Amino acid sequence: MAVEYDPFTTHLGGDPYPLYRALREQAPVHYAADSDIYCVTRYDDVRQVLGQPELFSSRAMDTVFRRSRDVRLRPRHLVDVARFVWKMRSVLLRMRRAGNLITLDPPRHSELRAIVNRGFTPRQIATWEPWIREIVVEELSDKLDQAEAFDVVRDLAIPLPTRVIMRVLGVEKSGVDFKRWSDNLVSGISGPGRHDPMALGIMDSMAELMVFLRTTIHERRANPGDDLISLLVDPAQDHALGDGEAISFVVLLLIAGNETTTNLIGNGINALYDHPDQLALLLDDPARMPGFIEEALRYDSPIQIVFRRATAATEIAGVAIPEGGYVAPMLASANRDDRKFPDADRFDIRRESSGHLGFGFGLHFCLGSALARLQARIAFEAVVPHLGRLEKRDAAPEIIDSFLVRGRSSLVLEARAAA
Ligand code: HEM
Repeated sequence: MAVEYDPFTTHLGGDPYPLYRALREQAPVHYAADSDIYCVTRYDDVRQVLGQPELFSSRAMDTVFRRSRDVRLRPRHLVDVARFVWKMRSVLLRMRRAGNLITLDPPRHSELRAIVNRGFTPRQIATWEPWIREIVVEELSDKLDQAEAFDVVRDLAIPLPTRVIMRVLGVEKSGVDFKRWSDNLVSGISGPGRHDPMALGIMDSMAELMVFLRTTIHERRANPGDDLISLLVDPAQDHALGDGEAISFVVLLLIAGNETTTNLIGNGINALYDHPDQLALLLDDPARMPGFIEEALRYDSPIQIVFRRATAATEIAGVAIPEGGYVAPMLASANRDDRKFPDADRFDIRRESSGHLGFGFGLHFCLGSALARLQARIAFEAVVPHLGRLEKRDAAPEIIDSFLVRGRSSLVLEARAAA
């Protein structure tokens, strides 16, 4: 029987990996007719697509989400949308003109990436370690030592990246609700809010965020500080970002950097609980931490899928792709391909997992990978030593409703019952 899968409508449920395996074996380039998308599932083919940005354009990372939305706008919402567009017209126009790193192709992508790379050098990120550690200590407070249960996703993995990005942007003392804005953005793009953005206040959040960022950018241009926004818009620098470019970029950081990092932490801890032998190995030798983090990214990838669009007629693994055809390189499936990672469904923190595609591949390789790894390492170093005496309350914690990201919405840990 043919495998059925459509990235926008198939409900993946708790374990999408058997379905990915079936696709890899039976239809490695699977055409999802309803969404008109070619889904690519084998490691080599996914890398081939991501490695040819001139043939597979990242503009799809913008246009495909609009196609996927199936928004149910009620008539009264049309008024709200019109009001939003009118109020934000100058910012929206500038953002549109500026483009967004993740949706751009060369040469503009290369220019913009060279500029924003300045804010994410490995040396700079390493200097952030002490205060990231302080945030982890603050968020955990004495939860790990108390007898009561706590939720490692809600109490640590969710607030950590938001606080980190606020600090990097220099807005941690602004008193604004960045968390709500960021959650609403992600929900409106790939989560439950994609069907009803007005009801969930997504447009409101977007408008509030844009107004806040525009004001902040103007302030930093006049009075630069020691933060990412000041660095990017500093008029004394060559190629300083304009308002539209800077707003677009910060919005991207919130979308790309928060929930992904949250899910790496949640998925990693969940995988350790599901594989007690691997937890024992890590407890036995904490130097295995980097191997564990890479294996968590491979085994249960926070970003499951990305999108591209063919700029010319071509073929992938013998399947013809028309010019303009949408292609979905499925990172999480590629990471479970036995052809690249022997016995790929086995979670093994000692395996050679380098080359995994959890952070993508090629020109668009994740800008925040070093920051994500650092946050995850600090969070795991704080929590993992306690996992031996804690257990997870739900054997299969609830999975987030999204076709793009994979993670647990909650992961409650409590003291093990005495034997
Ligand atoms: C575990 C956490 C993370 C994962 C799994 C992840 C994954 C990814 C992936 C797969 C891509 C490639 C998208 C594509 O090819 O179309 C990407 C790009 C990107 N990520 Fe991350 N990311 C994470 C954390 C972060 C963080 C913390 C930041 C920044 C604060 C960030 C910022 C970005 C940006 C700006 C891009 C676009 C790069 C470009 O287009 O040149 N990410 N990420």
